Amino acid sequence: MHSVSAADSGKRISLHGTWSSRMAFILAVTGSAVGLGNIWKFPYVAGENGGGAFVLVYLACVFLIGMPVMMSEILIGRRGRRNPVATMALLGEEEGHSRQWLWVGGMGVVAGILILSYYSVIAGWTLAYVVKSVGGAFSGADAETVGNIFGSFVGDWRLLAVCHTLFMALTVFVVARGVERGLEQAVRVMVPALLILLLVLLGYSVTSGSFRSGVEFMFTPDFSKLTWDSVLAAMGQAFFTLSIGMGAIMAYGAYLPEETSITGASAAVVTADTSIAILAGLVIFPLVFANGLNPADGPGLVFQTLPLALGQMPGGAFFSTLFFVLLSFAAWTSAIGLMEPAVAWLVERYQRSRAQAAMIVGTLIWALGFGTVLSFNLLADLTFYKGTLFDNVDHLTSNIMLPLGGVFIAVFAGWIMCRNSTADELGNTGTAYKVWHFLARYVAPIGILFVFLKAVGLLDWVAAAFG
Ligand code: TRP
Repeated sequence: MHSVSAADSGKRISLHGTWSSRMAFILAVTGSAVGLGNIWKFPYVAGENGGGAFVLVYLACVFLIGMPVMMSEILIGRRGRRNPVATMALLGEEEGHSRQWLWVGGMGVVAGILILSYYSVIAGWTLAYVVKSVGGAFSGADAETVGNIFGSFVGDWRLLAVCHTLFMALTVFVVARGVERGLEQAVRVMVPALLILLLVLLGYSVTSGSFRSGVEFMFTPDFSKLTWDSVLAAMGQAFFTLSIGMGAIMAYGAYLPEETSITGASAAVVTADTSIAILAGLVIFPLVFANGLNPADGPGLVFQTLPLALGQMPGGAFFSTLFFVLLSFAAWTSAIGLMEPAVAWLVERYQRSRAQAAMIVGTLIWALGFGTVLSFNLLADLTFYKGTLFDNVDHLTSNIMLPLGGVFIAVFAGWIMCRNSTADELGNTGTAYKVWHFLARYVAPIGILFVFLKAVGLLDWVAAAFG
C-alpha cells in the first residue's frame, strides 16, 4: 500500500460516497446518538447511581471528554476516508508513527458487535411494547399490573428471542441495502417527533404531583453517594450515548464533505443528544416517585413508568403506541451505526458486498444476543462480577472498551497527528482549536485513565503502599 502525503489526503475520497449535505451528516450522527441510551439507559443508570451527583459527572464527561473525542473521531475519519481499521493504519503510517494503530479500529469493531448484541434485545422489547400498546394493555393499569406485564414478558425467553430476531432482521435489511439515505428522512421526522412527545409527557409529569422530587433527585448532587464506580458509569454513559469511542462516528466522518465544520456539527449533535436524555429523566423520575416505584429498579424502569403514566392519560393507548414506535425508530437508526464499522471493514478488507457483510455480521450479533435474551429468565441467576451476562457485556463495552477507545482516539488526534493535519481538518487555529487541542491532549486521556484507576482502586492501593 502506498502512503499518501498529508497534502494529498485532503483530496482522498471515500469508497462509499459522501453525505449529500452537511445536514445529512448531522442527521445521521444524531440518529446514531439518540437512541435507547437516552431514554432507556440514562434514567435507569442515573437511578441506580443515586441521581444528582451522577448526572453532574455525566454532564461534565459529555462536555469535557465526549465533545473533544467526538471531534477527534470525525476529523480522523474524514482524513482517512476508510473503515476505522484501515483509517487508523493509514493515518498512523502517514503521520510517521505506526500502522499498529489499526487495533484501535479493531477494538471498535468488536465493541460495536458486542453492544448491538444486547442493544437489539432491548430494542426488541420496544417492538413488543408497540404491540402491547396497540392492544390497550396499559389502559388504566396500576403500578402492579404494569410491573407484572413487564415481569412475565422478560420471563419468556422465546418471546424475547423472537423480538430480538425481528429487530436484527430489520437492521440487517437496512444495512444490506445501504439505504441510509432513506434513514436520513426517518431521522428528520423522528428526532423532532420524539422531542415533541417528550415535551407532552413532560407536561403530564409536571402535573403528576411528584415533579419536585423528580427534579431534586436528578439535580441535587449528594456527593457522599458517589462512588468511583458511579463516576465510571457516568463516564461510560457519556461515551455510550454519544456513540463515541468505537469508530462509528469515525466511519460516518469518512463520508463527510471537506467543507463541513466539524466543531459545529459536533456541538449540534452533543446538544441534541444531551437535551433528549435530560428531558427523558425529567419525564421519568417524577413518575417514578408519583407511583411509589424505585429509581434503582434497573433496565425495566422506562418499560414500567411510561406505560403506567400513559395508561392513565386520555388517549393513552395512542400516545403509548406512538412513544414506542418512535423509540423503536430511534433504536433502529442507532443499531445501523453500531454495525457500520464491522460492515465497512468487511466490505473493504475482504471485498464483500454490503449485503453479504451485513448478513455475516448480523448473524454473529444475533447469536451473541442470546446471552442477553437469557439473562432475564433462564440464566437470571447466573451472576458474576457485575451481575448477569447482560450486565457484564454492558459494563465491559460502555465502561471499559468505549472509554479506552476514547483514550486512544484522543491521544492519536492530540499527540500523534501533527498540528497541520488537525488544524487543516478543524479548519482554524483560533480559540476553538486551542480548546479542543488542550482537551484532547490532556483532559480526556488523563481524565479517563484517572477514573479507570480510581474505579479499580489502583491509585489508593499505590498511595497506601507508598504512604
Ligand atoms: N448512542 C446510542 C444510544 O444512545 C448507542 C450507541 C453506542 C451507538 N455506540 C454507538 C449507536 C455507535 C451507533 C453507533 O442509544
